[in-house]
Amino acid sequence: MKVTVVGTGYVGLVTGACLSEMGNHVVCLDIDERKIRLLNEGGIPIHEPGLEAIVHRNVAAGRLQFTTDVAAAVGHGTVQFIGVGTPPDEDGSADLQYVLAAATNIGRHMTDYKVIVDKSTVPVGTADKVRDAVRAALVARGLGEMAYAVVSNPEFLKEGAAVDDCMRPDRIVVGADDERAVLLMRSLYLPFMRNHDRLQLMDVRSAEFTKYAANAMLATRISFMNELARLAEKVGADIEMVRKGMGSDPRIGTHFLYPGTGYGGSCFPKDVKALIHTGHENGMELGVLQAVEAANERQKHVLVDKIVAQYGESLAGRTFAVWGLAFKPNTDDMREAPSRVVIGELTRRGAAVRAYDPVAMDEARRVFEGTPGLTLVAHQAEALAGADALVVVTEWKEFRNPDFDAIKAALKQPLIFDGRNIYEPALMQLHGIDYRGIGRLAAR
Ligand SMILES: NC(=O)c1ccc[n+]([C@@H]2O[C@H](COP(=O)([O-])OP(=O)(O)OC[C@H]3O[C@@H](n4cnc5c(N)ncnc54)[C@H](O)[C@@H]3O)[C@@H](O)[C@H]2O)c1
Repeated sequence: MKVTVVGTGYVGLVTGACLSEMGNHVVCLDIDERKIRLLNEGGIPIHEPGLEAIVHRNVAAGRLQFTTDVAAAVGHGTVQFIGVGTPPDEDGSADLQYVLAAATNIGRHMTDYKVIVDKSTVPVGTADKVRDAVRAALVARGLGEMAYAVVSNPEFLKEGAAVDDCMRPDRIVVGADDERAVLLMRSLYLPFMRNHDRLQLMDVRSAEFTKYAANAMLATRISFMNELARLAEKVGADIEMVRKGMGSDPRIGTHFLYPGTGYGGSCFPKDVKALIHTGHENGMELGVLQAVEAANERQKHVLVDKIVAQYGESLAGRTFAVWGLAFKPNTDDMREAPSRVVIGELTRRGAAVRAYDPVAMDEARRVFEGTPGLTLVAHQAEALAGADALVVVTEWKEFRNPDFDAIKAALKQPLIFDGRNIYEPALMQLHGIDYRGIGRLAAR
């Protein structure tokens, strides 16, 4: 099938690459000329395991192309995926300007039937706005009668495992009311669900809502555990024991029950905000989600609170080694990353910071440009030299079993602030390292 993907970010590029892997001819469109140039030169603008190989293979096979040419891209695909960003507006609502610009462009250039697929995360009712934007552009061309369908197909991939999620989805939600569009969507996704039918067909509004409901639930679990971890420290319980005990109940399950330094990334923070805003628009206070958001804001400061409890309000003259800058492992994405709050607060209080991340260094240079007191170093060991303490912010695998004796030797005092509970307090004691985790019994 001929497919166009509008937006070549984390979602668009992965979607386009995976669809081309199944034999489809995919054109990926972006307005970012630098990104398209890089892709056309064989570069990959984001870190995503497995993505480079799949992109190169399908470009070489002539099934995957990148362009900034709107007319050519719209002309290409019968199915037009919109995967552009939907960042939060000032009032917390999802900013739809990029989605609607993409829809208008489709209406300006289409010459035959198109299935227009909202893959971006968009509030309930957006499909109607997309339909109107396309119609207005067609009417302006005197083509008001031209047929097209608008479908909601929210994306559930996880950064860091995006290719895998796309190739082996646990569900494919399609909201559609047009039979031809449903048939095309089903045939497009059939190769991805040969073992089980993963397609959940529903009305458009329910599909749009499902994405927010899923992210809001995941964010709720994280904030819930973070709050319990704070209480565990006060009452003398170990949240890791509590987590295992509660997670073994199949009604609760073990996923997403890890306390830490708060959720970040491009999705949970903005999607929680957007759902709260949708509540307001409909005369409802979503009290649970407001609490989820407030707990998360608090939690992003938990490491600095522990550091201040140790050293006092002013951190002038102190140096901290920070391991992990990406908002989670296996990605270079630093949007809303807790590391930004941690490093911002430490340097604001006068500390020097030596920071390292396995893949997000380029992004970190951009994000932290001009931050006083911050040195980005090329190796995790280099961050430790002469630091007062190690602060672990992202749970990359290579941080999980480091040489603790070397850490102890490099630090001024052997002290680790572990924002992801990747170390065992008892083992730390054995190594003679003072340890502060999140909600851990021997952690104070
Ligand atoms: N990143 C994730 O893990 C993830 C997961 C599921 C859903 N989503 C949702 O998918 C959407 C995209 O997210 P992302 O992380 O891929 O965003 P991103 O910021 O990485 O990429 C968006 C791309 O769209 C391009 N763009 C903007 N306007 C355009 C236009 N008119 N025409 C062509 N290209 C245009 C931008 O230049 C950019 O390259 C968002 O709604 C997000 O909430 C993201």
